[in-house]
Amino acid sequence: MSQLPYSEKVMDHFSNPRNVGEIPDASGVGTVGNPVCGDVMKMFLKIENNIIVDVKFKTFGCGAAVATSSMVTEMVKGKSIDEALKISNKAVAEALGGLPPIKMHCSVLAEEALRSALKDYFTRQGKPIPFEDKGHEHHGEKCL
Ligand code: FES
Repeated sequence: MSQLPYSEKVMDHFSNPRNVGEIPDASGVGTVGNPVCGDVMKMFLKIENNIIVDVKFKTFGCGAAVATSSMVTEMVKGKSIDEALKISNKAVAEALGGLPPIKMHCSVLAEEALRSALKDYFTRQGKPIPFEDKGHEHHGEKCL
């Protein structure tokens, strides 16, 4: 019997990703590329009174990237900006029942897309960005 390296939750979110698409009147849009593999993720946020009322994404990437983007959209919907900022790529991977170590870098894309969309939101509002730009960092992963 062949063993899939992915948990059932990862397979579920990969096969039926939640919140795929675009928000035409988004409050913030973030696009990030994964420096390890070149995959790209775009995230759209609709924010009202500090709450993420809607979120959509488009990912041109591997199965783990699609699954983590899908999971992160579920995790931030209805949350305040502060709560959303506390969600790390590790928390997303854990919510998915874990990712193979070689695929952890894919989950970084989801966290960075979220932060990039929030950054865009604050910039559009003319407000200072209330968090540090992590920039090109690997969260313990190595660039290939
Ligand atoms: Fe590119 Fe997973 S291999 S994001």
